[in-house]
Amino acid sequence: MFKKDQQQERDLFESERNFRLLVEGVADYALYMLDPTGVVTSWNIGGQRIKGYSPTEIIGQHFSRFYTEVDRANGKPVRALRIACEQGRYEEDGWRVRKDGTFFWASVVIDPIYEDGELIGFAKITRDITERREAQLKLEQMHQQLAESQKLDALGQLTGGVAHDFNNLLMIISGSVHTLKKAVGDDPKSQRALSAIEGATKRGASLTSQLLTFARRQSVNPQAVDVAERIDAVREVLDAAVGSAVTLQFDVAKGVWPIMVDVAEFETALVNLVVNARDAMTGGVIRISAHNDTPGGDGAGDFVAISVEDTGTGIAPDILNKIFDPFFTTKPIGKGTGLGLSQVHGFAHQAGGTVKVASELGKGTRITILLPRKEAAPAAEHVNAVETGGSGTVLLVEDNPEVATVSTGLLEQLGYTVRRVANAEAALREVELDGIDLVFSDIVMPGKMDGLGLARHLKAVRPGLPILLTSGYSDAALNVRGDFPILRKPYEIHELSRAIAKLPR
Ligand SMILES: Nc1ncnc2c1ncn2[C@@H]1O[C@H](COP(=O)(O)OP(=O)(O)OP(=O)(O)O)[C@@H](O)[C@H]1O
Ligand SMILES: [Mg+2]
Repeated sequence: MFKKDQQQERDLFESERNFRLLVEGVADYALYMLDPTGVVTSWNIGGQRIKGYSPTEIIGQHFSRFYTEVDRANGKPVRALRIACEQGRYEEDGWRVRKDGTFFWASVVIDPIYEDGELIGFAKITRDITERREAQLKLEQMHQQLAESQKLDALGQLTGGVAHDFNNLLMIISGSVHTLKKAVGDDPKSQRALSAIEGATKRGASLTSQLLTFARRQSVNPQAVDVAERIDAVREVLDAAVGSAVTLQFDVAKGVWPIMVDVAEFETALVNLVVNARDAMTGGVIRISAHNDTPGGDGAGDFVAISVEDTGTGIAPDILNKIFDPFFTTKPIGKGTGLGLSQVHGFAHQAGGTVKVASELGKGTRITILLPRKEAAPAAEHVNAVETGGSGTVLLVEDNPEVATVSTGLLEQLGYTVRRVANAEAALREVELDGIDLVFSDIVMPGKMDGLGLARHLKAVRPGLPILLTSGYSDAALNVRGDFPILRKPYEIHELSRAIAKLPR
């Protein structure tokens, strides 16, 4: 009998000891007890690891020292104990303070402990979930960025499709105007009317071009570009754009790396930024700068940063995330189309870069285009841009009959004989018949083979045959990437002539 009691007592002692060892040894949780007033009465290794206090330092101290000063001033620790008593449990995620004063994001649970109906203290469990919280925040941020880029992608697809059709129309209008101009002779009224149509077509072409850049569907001719040289080349255009009230200041660092971009797109982007800066101010200085930049500094990439900085109105924070949207403008009707920054955005991304905005209301705005560095030195390109009288037979591959008619007209005016087919398969048959001196093909065509496929095939079977591709836009055009020259639609007669003259023969 007596022996049994002893055994039981030993067992109980043993189990209590094990339990204490367990609690003390848990390293990932701070597990400890408070007395009914909130004074710490026990402490485990997890508490020491998470909060930094050894048991001797903390036992006997009030637990409110784990709270931030603000929480303490607001009576949060006392409130937590009261809620634990009233509701049987208190749970919270919030900032807590370590011994060294640093903060951590804690998950806290407080349970009241009763013995014979009387409160004898609290069990407190604290976990450090700072990392989890940071991961969560990062995830949310990524979701937001993804949503933003998906929105822009969707808009891009929509605008790209519309602009593509529009370009074919413009091609027909501008080509026909050219023909009519010759036909009407020098009747001033008709000539004036035709000039008006011509002007409107150009404006239309520049709008669709901005849209296509935004949609990243613009067919581009990337080439190595010396930034300093290019900025210098557009100086006059920019000067003319800003007028006399505003001064342009150029600050191009020495030894700026070359970049790989489409020259026309690059210049358009600069003009768009400078015009925006001008519109935001009544007078003052616009600073255009360029320098090398290695963001992150971890060799993740060498970039050239090109900034346009003004001292104008600045951009309100609530519209900051809209300014790149196509057709977003705060300008009065007729003053802005809301496509300038869309072009800048599309251009930068197509070139493998990005755009950054820093703006403060009432102070000014700095927009920076970051473009990846091009490794090799810019190739000197000396092209003879004379409009030569053409001769020989051109095989025109174009599926749209109206565009084909216009293109035929232009080619014939340049002196070429034209043979016309509507798809790649027919083109191959025609080439086999011989007598073709040059192939001029649209890229986007129905059928198994598109213009690029045709060009690649011809290059293999007829290496000496010059090929010029044309496109209003195309994702395929992006794949061309310098393999074949591309003429952008809508093109004018002198552009067509020049593009043919440039062809390697
Ligand atoms: N430098 C700037 N300072 C203040 N606001 C700016 C600046 N640049 C752009 N914005 C704001 O962003 C909007 C969109 O600019 P974006 O260039 O895309 O279109 P826009 O200038 O209104 O029209 P568009 O360029 O097509 O003629 C502007 O209407 C303006 O509210
Ligand atoms: Mg603008």
